[in-house]
Amino acid sequence: MQHVKRTLVTTALPYANGPVHLGHLAGVYLPADIYVRYKRMKGEDVIHIGGSDEHGVPITITAEKEGISPQDVVDRYHRMNSEAFRKCGISFDYYGRTSSQEHHDTAKEFFLEIERKGIFRRKTEKQFFDATAGRFLSDRYVTGTCPICSNPEANGDQCEQCGTHLSPTELLNPKSKLSDATPELRETMHWYFPLGRFQKALEEYVDLHDLQKISPENFQKKPYSVWRPNVVNYTRTWLKQGLNDRAITRDLSWGIELPISDPEACGKVLYVWFDAVLGYISFTRQWAVETGDESLWRAYWQDPESRVVNFIGKDNVVFHTLMFPAILMAWNEGRQSGIYNLADNVPASEFMNFEGRKFSKSRNYAVYLGEFLEKFPADTLRYSIAMNYPENKDTDFSWQDFQNRTNGELADTLGNFI
Ligand code: 2FM
Ligand code: ZN
Repeated sequence: MQHVKRTLVTTALPYANGPVHLGHLAGVYLPADIYVRYKRMKGEDVIHIGGSDEHGVPITITAEKEGISPQDVVDRYHRMNSEAFRKCGISFDYYGRTSSQEHHDTAKEFFLEIERKGIFRRKTEKQFFDATAGRFLSDRYVTGTCPICSNPEANGDQCEQCGTHLSPTELLNPKSKLSDATPELRETMHWYFPLGRFQKALEEYVDLHDLQKISPENFQKKPYSVWRPNVVNYTRTWLKQGLNDRAITRDLSWGIELPISDPEACGKVLYVWFDAVLGYISFTRQWAVETGDESLWRAYWQDPESRVVNFIGKDNVVFHTLMFPAILMAWNEGRQSGIYNLADNVPASEFMNFEGRKFSKSRNYAVYLGEFLEKFPADTLRYSIAMNYPENKDTDFSWQDFQNRTNGELADTLGNFI
């Protein structure tokens, strides 16, 4: 690898609709923290940016369940999660919030630029509508049976069991989460991002990071990283199917309002994934303001000799290898300056399970980080998870393993050696 001037490390923004658990820590935050600490020890210029994902349906569903406002939900879990990360020694340089004004401004700036270039398409399509509640049902407001694995509790955006990305209308036996009624299809207009328009550019981007495709000429150009096989494979599956238009607005009241005075935009907000990935940029800007040099963020995002690394879990791959790069390509198109770097690496881990089953925030089957750290010191946890890191395959967290590693390896073997 050639010389890298700076590295910007980002970690997937957890939804502020519940406490983070050990699966999140193992898949994203601990590996990123180890990487960042290693680079700092070597004296490299590196910053670690993270924060809370505070929009989207997971937040509004939690608020409705508890009878409180979405703002109350995100205030509670942002505080709880940032405190848990602090206690665990995850050394963020900045931990932001997507409900902040600065983040809203950044997301609106991107929307307006892409709208100005005429890249978005407006389309009217049929979507589920709950006639009892009088509302369109986006994503997770619809549940039903997964058409791939027959899981009867698949969400409208993704099946937790098999990981398939879905749209609500693909579910069998759809039900509204608001009323349990079978929703009806009604027409609604949305803004769509034409991912297919960027198919070729995205293929070239992925080729630069695919071990099977890297040519000596490409290698000379930039310090490109080779992506993990799982990241290349997930991405290639989407590319092979051909990329389609993706709706980037939703009929919701919680989120970032469209910054245009068009009657069609009324009652719509940006799709959470469109705004969340831009959080990496808005939080770096906020970090720069805090350092006293508000243009410093550009050195990390816009200097071609700097490098961006997005740590994520495997369920977030295509948002980071296709959607986010395509948004940046749309921004960069036709520009001479202010050009954003695309991620050089997107290390996506597999999952760490808990006693043989998947961690699940929604089913409350989890060990939550904050609660864990009330009972055990962070180092014992960091050690046992680092030894059991789900880099290439799913691993399992068990209390027995935690006890063996703490008592047997840390205290006995390492302790006695020291
Ligand atoms: O899957 C999730 O928890 C999302 N909130 C991750 C967002 S990552 C990035 F886009 F911000
Ligand atoms: Zn499934």
